[in-house]
Amino acid sequence: MKYSYLQKHRYLYQPKLPPAVRGPIGSISVDLGGPTEAVADRDAVRAEFSRTYGKPIAKLVADRPNDDAGRERTVGVILSGGQAPGGHNVIAGVFDALKAANPSNRLLGFLGGPSGLIDDEKIEITGEYMDQYRNTGGFDIIGSGRTKIETPEQFAAVRETCRTNKVDAVVVIGGDDSNTNAALLAEYFVQKGDAVQVIGVPKTIDGDLKNEFIEASFGFDTAVKTYSELVGNIGRDANSAKKYWHFIKLMGRSASHITLECALQTQPNICIISEEVQKKGQTLNDVVESIADIISVRAANGDDFGVALVPEGLIEFIPEVGSLISELNDLLVKHADTVADLRSIEKQVEWLSGHLSTEGARVFQSLPGAIQQQLLMDRDPHGNVQVSRIETEKLLIDMVTAVLKERKAAGTYRGSFSTQHHFFGYEGRCAFPSNFDADYTYSLGYTAFLLVANGLTGYISSVRNMAFPADKWTAGGIPLTMMMNMEQRHGQQKPVIRKALVELDGAPFKQFAAHRDTWARETSFASPGAIQYFGPDEVCNMPTMTLRLEHNRDV
Ligand code: FBP
Repeated sequence: MKYSYLQKHRYLYQPKLPPAVRGPIGSISVDLGGPTEAVADRDAVRAEFSRTYGKPIAKLVADRPNDDAGRERTVGVILSGGQAPGGHNVIAGVFDALKAANPSNRLLGFLGGPSGLIDDEKIEITGEYMDQYRNTGGFDIIGSGRTKIETPEQFAAVRETCRTNKVDAVVVIGGDDSNTNAALLAEYFVQKGDAVQVIGVPKTIDGDLKNEFIEASFGFDTAVKTYSELVGNIGRDANSAKKYWHFIKLMGRSASHITLECALQTQPNICIISEEVQKKGQTLNDVVESIADIISVRAANGDDFGVALVPEGLIEFIPEVGSLISELNDLLVKHADTVADLRSIEKQVEWLSGHLSTEGARVFQSLPGAIQQQLLMDRDPHGNVQVSRIETEKLLIDMVTAVLKERKAAGTYRGSFSTQHHFFGYEGRCAFPSNFDADYTYSLGYTAFLLVANGLTGYISSVRNMAFPADKWTAGGIPLTMMMNMEQRHGQQKPVIRKALVELDGAPFKQFAAHRDTWARETSFASPGAIQYFGPDEVCNMPTMTLRLEHNRDV
């Protein structure tokens, strides 16, 4: 691989750690709190995790000896799910802590995600190999995958892999679904009487793996800064040419955290927040009319241009479409063979329409053929609709065009509506991690090893107080069962980590809501520019506005 100048300079970057974990590994222990409970459905979650439910919160503390820290260990690591900037640094953090504890310790990287653990596909991560990946984006160090460890045979295969390789602990770097899997694996090992520990690490650009104790998932900071740069550039272009409306779909799966942060940073004319659409019970037509209203107001001021941000999960949050999707999910599971045998999309749509509720069939029939087709595409292994493949931005452009045509005919709109559409998602997932993400991920990895060294299992690595500089960060572990509730997956109730959606009474949304009318009418685009890795703190070390607003730090 050819190294860019930036990559060469990033190799020299030394990520910051929370003060509690800066000393010798053997002098760092945990303080344990009281028993904990799941966020909801406590009895059902407890029943699923009879051996690991309700563990205490763990806080890492310095200057307290841990006599077991230096015991020789082999740790396995996997990257699971979609790429997120900083994954390599999590592994670097685990590696450095593990070697600091005992130079004979080994780190095995299982290849291609959870399937690497099932199939025992691995490499040993050496110092030389690790050094090529420090502070870089991507998951290419060991690859990733979305396989879910689900069947008894798969669990048994993972057990066999750990036995063969004498693995003492597995670190699972993943999102909500992968960390749910980590919790199930931890429970499985305890039930089998195996000493293998399992520690999760909160990864996802989507920002939806967060709660009181997990302040942000890693990768969100870099991804939103990358997208905000692009949206800011488009705003400048729109205001220079004054001839296009740009509709920009932003990644983020169900939650609109990415879209909201990009709106706070770039001040677009329109920004839809899925959670608000759901709360208000808006129909697709309501959303389209509200967009057309803003375009009409701007046109009346002579501004036939603008920027509209659309979260990729919007379609699922429009209540009528959301209900349709759950009906489709159930039908596609129960009648998988029948639907597959129908082969042509038209026939599948016809068959499904005949088996949906009356309302479901009405909504399904009202959607354009391309969207119907996209709604039928394979679910991911965790049962999610692949929203990145649904072209919501184009659907909205088509529907808004039709409404504006009607308004023109009625004489209530006199503008011109020329559009461009964009989808920003994959562009941000493998960027060089921002300083924030480089520090955060290294700290998460370092902490993950310290949780192992302190004998814990069924925890997720947690670094807190991150709205402030790293000198104020704390580190520890949160029991995974504490973050769980029961949800319908593949037609069955399953324990899963609860996704954090945008809170409409939270500070980031309130900040946006207080300004959006002005941003709609006036042209107030802000241009944050590219991520900076070197320079003054306020340009290269500033956490996201979401994190600062949520933790009462000035924006
Ligand atoms: P994770 O939840 O695994 O972190 O993945 C996030 C994500 O980037 C979503 O924002 C997006 O919808 C999805 O992955 C795309 O998946 P894929 O990489 O399989 O196309």
